[in-house]
Amino acid sequence: MAPQIQSERIKDILPSDIRRLFDLAQGIKGIISLGIGEPDFVTPAHIREAAKKALDGGQTHYAPSRGIPALGQEVAKRYQRDYNVTVDPPKHFFDFNGGIQALFYVTFATINPGDEVLLPDPGFLCYPNLVLSAGGKIVNYPCPEEKDFKPDFDALEAAITPRTKAAFLNFPCNPTGAHLYPDEMKRLVKILTQHDILIISDEVYDNIIYDDYHSVSALQYGTVDQMVVVNSFSKSYAMTGWRVGYTLGPEQLTNAIERIYQNSQTCINTPAQFAAVAALTGPQDSIGKMVKSFDERRKIIVDGLNDLRNISCFMPKGAFYAFPNISGTKFKTSRKFSEEVIKQAKVVSVPGDTFGQRGEGYVRMSYATATEQIKEALERIKGIL
Ligand SMILES: Cc1ncc(COP(=O)(O)O)c(C=O)c1O
Repeated sequence: MAPQIQSERIKDILPSDIRRLFDLAQGIKGIISLGIGEPDFVTPAHIREAAKKALDGGQTHYAPSRGIPALGQEVAKRYQRDYNVTVDPPKHFFDFNGGIQALFYVTFATINPGDEVLLPDPGFLCYPNLVLSAGGKIVNYPCPEEKDFKPDFDALEAAITPRTKAAFLNFPCNPTGAHLYPDEMKRLVKILTQHDILIISDEVYDNIIYDDYHSVSALQYGTVDQMVVVNSFSKSYAMTGWRVGYTLGPEQLTNAIERIYQNSQTCINTPAQFAAVAALTGPQDSIGKMVKSFDERRKIIVDGLNDLRNISCFMPKGAFYAFPNISGTKFKTSRKFSEEVIKQAKVVSVPGDTFGQRGEGYVRMSYATATEQIKEALERIKGIL
């Protein structure tokens, strides 16, 4: 008999169909991808230089598991400056290989089998897989289009039970581009903390915000003992390939994570940490330039989508994704729409049901793509509707 390879934990992880769609797109000549969730900019020069300098200066060794001290200190300064929040880095800070690894370790270190975890629907597709792999039970809270994809607060509160252990928040949101005003974040944090629910606030897009919205952190409305903030350098500094993210969370959790980390990862890439410090201490104008450019493209894609027959699109308030409602088109379902748009228009989008049941009827299109490509993609889609 062959050995049983997969653990029960891994078997639970939902299969993703995105890969299949991207495979379908592979090899099609002239394809335009609106599928990828990363800035199309190169990391700013001063950040790249800092990594080179670190390498040339011999920073080629293991770093502390919690990161080089300067990294935690600079993150703490940033939270103080931007959010008026005080954290003590050695106690509350931990660095990771990107926000996604932070989410993995946080889930692993906090969720017990049978714990209920509140997840946004639609929401980032990793959350349900992480919760399932920890043996947790997914409880979705709706973030419907009629509420600008913000949480339905009553439904969220009604979903809370004595077994609710944690809630994932994600503002600005991937895939919808929804964001919250400060009073809405305050209300959300209040509901959850009143029930002693651990907040896991994924704030990786917190610098990419539009219109009358502003950066807001859950930490502004609660204490570091009540929540874990997950953040990353990937999106704000166009550093997706460097893999630097972090958490700010309860000391007890940071200590627990360190124990697992020392047995699995040791530390993150040392020169990349020096680059991240330079990102925080150097000029911040690259963020503004990038956001300005995303903003221009946001308007082009959303206006263009709204001009298309039977498609309507919410104007995103953060991140770089449009989430058009395509349920009125002849393709009707997200999957059919994405498939036909790849085949007939040679444009890649991600079907909305990938992000949860309530994502059905929508597709996600990243506008971190050259303007000309966005315009061309819209023209092509127009031709097949
Ligand atoms: C909502 C959200 N959280 C976390 C991540 C992880 O980003 P990274 O691991 O590059 O920091 C992403 C990346 O797409 C994301 O969209």
